[in-house]
Amino acid sequence: MSMAPEDAQAPGLRDRLLPAARRASANAHSPYSGLKVGAALLTGDGSVISGCNVESASFGLTQCAERNALGTAIAEGVAPGSVTALLVYLPGDRPLPPCGACRQVMLELLAPGAQVLSVCDGDGFHRWDVEDLLPGAFTGLPRDD
Ligand code: THU
Repeated sequence: MSMAPEDAQAPGLRDRLLPAARRASANAHSPYSGLKVGAALLTGDGSVISGCNVESASFGLTQCAERNALGTAIAEGVAPGSVTALLVYLPGDRPLPPCGACRQVMLELLAPGAQVLSVCDGDGFHRWDVEDLLPGAFTGLPRDD
């Protein structure tokens, strides 16, 4: 999905995805961190699928909002590589940069050139082409052929 430079905050994507990400954020289960993260993604056919973070008392089992949204998309039959945008939302005035694990999975499941937006309730935001999230990423075992 290409975007004009003056469209730096991607208002079209933001308008489309933020309501779903906010709804998911309200459902976050995060008694340990208190962070209520919501994510929403756009599929190739224009559907919106959301996810929130789900924490565990065994902290390492915590699931991030972005990967939960992507897992739901795959379960719904969305083809890997066909997600054109993903927005992550954190209530408050600071946007949340996606963690390294989510960057890896986004790189594998989003479409080439997909937009990743991180927004909050204030003016601050981040926006990346998915390829820029994880330079030199692992993409599978090296092969000779
Ligand atoms: N979290 C996400 O949902 N996405 C990220 O990309 C970073 C972190 C959640 C996991 C945990 O519930 C809380 O934020 C603090 O790490």
